Amino acid sequence: MSKKVLIAGGAGFIGSNFIRHTKEVHPDWELIVFDVLTYAGNLENLEGVEYKFINGDIADEKAVEQAFETHKPEYVVNFAAETHVDRSILGPKVFLRTNVEGTQNLLESAKKHKVERYLQISTDEVYGDLGDNSNDFFREDTPLDPNCPYAASKAAADIFVRSYYETYKLPILITRCTNNYGPYQFPEKLIPFFIFRALNNETLPLYGDGKNIRDWLFVRDHARAILSVLERGAIGEVYNIGGHNEKTNIEIAEILLEKLGKSKDLITFIKDRKAHDRRYAMDALKIKKELGWTPEFPFEVWIDETIEWYLSNKKWVENCAKKAEDFYQQNLQNR
Ligand code: NAD
Ligand code: TYD
Repeated sequence: MSKKVLIAGGAGFIGSNFIRHTKEVHPDWELIVFDVLTYAGNLENLEGVEYKFINGDIADEKAVEQAFETHKPEYVVNFAAETHVDRSILGPKVFLRTNVEGTQNLLESAKKHKVERYLQISTDEVYGDLGDNSNDFFREDTPLDPNCPYAASKAAADIFVRSYYETYKLPILITRCTNNYGPYQFPEKLIPFFIFRALNNETLPLYGDGKNIRDWLFVRDHARAILSVLERGAIGEVYNIGGHNEKTNIEIAEILLEKLGKSKDLITFIKDRKAHDRRYAMDALKIKKELGWTPEFPFEVWIDETIEWYLSNKKWVENCAKKAEDFYQQNLQNR
């Protein structure tokens, strides 16, 4: 059956990949993108896709309410957020405004208009740090223990969403995913940043000793998981999403340099990120058991496709990089 879906933050990296995937599976669904187009939002990410667009800020209560009043969505998916840990260390305030207040505005309107399903896109970072030398994984019942302002704002939003289920019986769902890679990722995040730097023969700055571990998942696998939770997830539940593809940051840098035919001498070690979590890794058994989801896109193949995409879209990358120049300078200053 056709559905009307309001997608907050749909012009960003994961939102736009989710929209492409959803349109392939459900060409008849009506998709309404609500996005204020920050430095990370870009309508070029949605070129060739059919959708309605509202230029709006989720932290603007009236704009959110008007979008619900006009379009009466049945489903809501919230991708909208400030998403970069390093930016949150330099300036946490906007993270509180967008990620927490913005989410609460969406929840209020979702409640008022009695949406059928509200899905919050959360993150593994809400769980905190698994640390070195552990074989542990984050499970859905692992206590939230965020360390940086980005993670704290996502955890606050995540708990707010849960509270609307407990208090008002709003039909919510929450997904918490590991690090994504793939086309349309803003090139200040690790993988596209390092591709871009290597192509320009610039150093690849690894924070600290470079041995921090992340679990990398291809963005289209995340999109598949989100759609299955949106359609079939049990109301009130949290679902972890992960790739069982753990790599240190040094390994990522070396893989990219080798594939791009560049020297490993480009790797440099710089002063560590503050509160730099050592390891994230997900137990994603629940979504496998309940919804039959497992990753389909192997890293070895899709990292090549990702590199290829960035090589074929240099103009897109350069336009993004221009928007981030001030940030690059501030972030790398005195390190
Ligand atoms: P992104 O930074 O690429 O995109 C964020 C989008 O939100 C942009 O289109 C931006 O314009 C929009 N936005 C920001 N502030 C807004 C506001 N106030 N009102 C309306 N729109 C606003 O982010 P992403 O990597 O696509 O992440 C999407 C979601 O997934 C986020 O909630 C993030 O926390 C979560 N997540 C990301 C990852 C990852 O690896 N990238 C992993 C797990 C979870
Ligand atoms: P990032 O893409 O910012 O994702 P997150 O911190 O949300 O996991 O960074 C991924 C990892 O790469 C993280 O451990 C920080 C590290 N990193 C660097 O070492 N150098 C860099 O220039 C960047 C952007 C990240």
